Amino acid sequence: MLPFHQAVKDDFSAVNQLIIDKLHSDVGLVENIGHYLVEAGGKRLRPLLVLLTANALGYKGKDHLSLAAIIEFIHTATLLHDDVVDMSNLRRGRPTANAQWGNAPSVLVGDFLYSRAFQMMVGIGSMDVMAILSDTTNIIAEGEVQQLVNAKDPNVNEENYFRVIDKKTAILFAAACEVAAVQCGATPMQREALRLYGRHVGVAFQLVDDALDYTGDAATLGKNVGDDLAEGKPTLPLIHAMRTGTPAQADTIANAIRTGDASLLPAVLEIVHATGGMAYTLEAAQQQVQQALIQLQQLPDNTYTTAMKQLAEFSLARSF
Ligand code: IPE
Ligand code: IPE
Ligand code: MG
Repeated sequence: MLPFHQAVKDDFSAVNQLIIDKLHSDVGLVENIGHYLVEAGGKRLRPLLVLLTANALGYKGKDHLSLAAIIEFIHTATLLHDDVVDMSNLRRGRPTANAQWGNAPSVLVGDFLYSRAFQMMVGIGSMDVMAILSDTTNIIAEGEVQQLVNAKDPNVNEENYFRVIDKKTAILFAAACEVAAVQCGATPMQREALRLYGRHVGVAFQLVDDALDYTGDAATLGKNVGDDLAEGKPTLPLIHAMRTGTPAQADTIANAIRTGDASLLPAVLEIVHATGGMAYTLEAAQQQVQQALIQLQQLPDNTYTTAMKQLAEFSLARSF
């Protein structure tokens, strides 16, 4: 358990139970795949953000538990779909659902989880929450499609890259904080500060994820490394290397992106390191965390906001 779980330990157990309860379906395959993924764990950072935000603002109700489960369902649905699209075969230390059951069940169970999340939202009955989460799921889908369009294109620039990671990842972190703020009746200033905190943490999280895809360890990460290159994903370490490297170095990277040739990984890694692409990416993540911490200054200083600070720092220092 990560240190920032401790602050909301009881709520966190309640959310885990709720997640199991809400996976219920009369169709056995839905439950099997759902349980398979959920039992593998995952870091549960997004539901934690909901719980920490609600507690930081002194929330006394129970709806934050549902909101946390809703956010985790949306996240899990995106992972099911993402692993099909990315043809990934390892997730949370286990074979992915697509590797285990095939693409069709993965896509359909992803749909089940999305729609279960929306059923639960109706149960909460807040139009503001509905608005945030329907926009969020729509934007995530858009981000994933944009990423698909960018694949194998070495001309994708930094701005385009940041737009993609904002949409596919950061927006859900932002929504986790924002829906909790709304449910607590936060002031407009607090709501905005929390949304921005989540957004910056999310961008940092994805930047680090893209670095770890080159430098991480599959056993620790629970997913394969080198997948981004095999998919020809123009992520920031590569974009930086192409921009600052020699023409020959830029050519090697562009060629690797175009072909998705995994055998070029050692050469790509050498160039990325030589051009400072990894340091550049981590520096960008660090700046995002800094921005996130600035937003926290607008919130009360308590054990929950301290945990939110730790969570932001974890998103930078993490190895899994
Ligand atoms: C994986 O997210 C998808 C990305 C945004 C990189 P997490 O790393 O939070 O996944 P789990 O839930 O812990 O498995
Ligand atoms: C994660 O995308 C973002 C979403 C699931 C929407 P990635 O493809 O970068 O993340 P991993 O490496 O599969 O976890
Ligand atoms: Mg993926």
